[in-house]
Amino acid sequence: MHIIEAADYEDMSLKAWEVLQHKLPRIQVLGLATGGTPVGMYDHLIKAVQNKQADVSHLHTVNLDEYIGLSTCDPNSYYMFMKEKLFGPLGLPEDKVHLPHGDAENPQAEGKRYEDLIQSLGGVDLQVLGIGKNGHIGFNEPGSEMDGRTSVVQLASSTVEANARFFENEEEVPKTAITMGIGTILEAGEILLLASGKNKAHAVKCMIEGEVTSYCPASALQKHPKVTVVADREALSEMN
Ligand code: GLP
Repeated sequence: MHIIEAADYEDMSLKAWEVLQHKLPRIQVLGLATGGTPVGMYDHLIKAVQNKQADVSHLHTVNLDEYIGLSTCDPNSYYMFMKEKLFGPLGLPEDKVHLPHGDAENPQAEGKRYEDLIQSLGGVDLQVLGIGKNGHIGFNEPGSEMDGRTSVVQLASSTVEANARFFENEEEVPKTAITMGIGTILEAGEILLLASGKNKAHAVKCMIEGEVTSYCPASALQKHPKVTVVADREALSEMN
């Protein structure tokens, strides 16, 4: 793993953007993540496209995950989050942005459809990841299969709690999701993981220095040959 240390969230966002900017012309399929962490980097991407310093017209995007039960019109869906934070400002056409359908009648079959879609696009060239404070990537919680494919998963109660900040209250947070599996994520050509803040420090340490174990799903990234971690000082504060 290549580790880039940043001073704080702003610096992490800039440094992560510099990594992405350099690779962007060679990326056809960009894997995206939700959550607060990548938003600063997305803002840099938006500015660069608006100033004609970057081009995304060739891109397909595939997101990691979506809550089950929320349609694309639901303000709390990851689709809406991405539309507001990135797809809208970038002017990406609907047919080039992809997320699992949270309101699919058969969520299991939707997982398979999404997996096939990724294959039909030629696979993910670069996958952007955040990390949960319990070490989850996408919605692959501790205990997940380390070679799993896109499927239906239960959210850990700590994840429901952490994500409640985006909802009116905790009861509204869906308890299940469709997520790319760890096996799916590991097939990306490259991975760019971002982490910021003290509450991620333990997960970051386990990911980089811990043994590869499903107790810390992000530790699976140690098996990938091309991972860049951009993390701020607080997120790196528990490292040896
Ligand atoms: C969510 C997402 C993850 C994300 C993580 C951290 O549950 N499914 O993809 O990386 O939580 O979110 P944040 O960046 O807001 O800390």
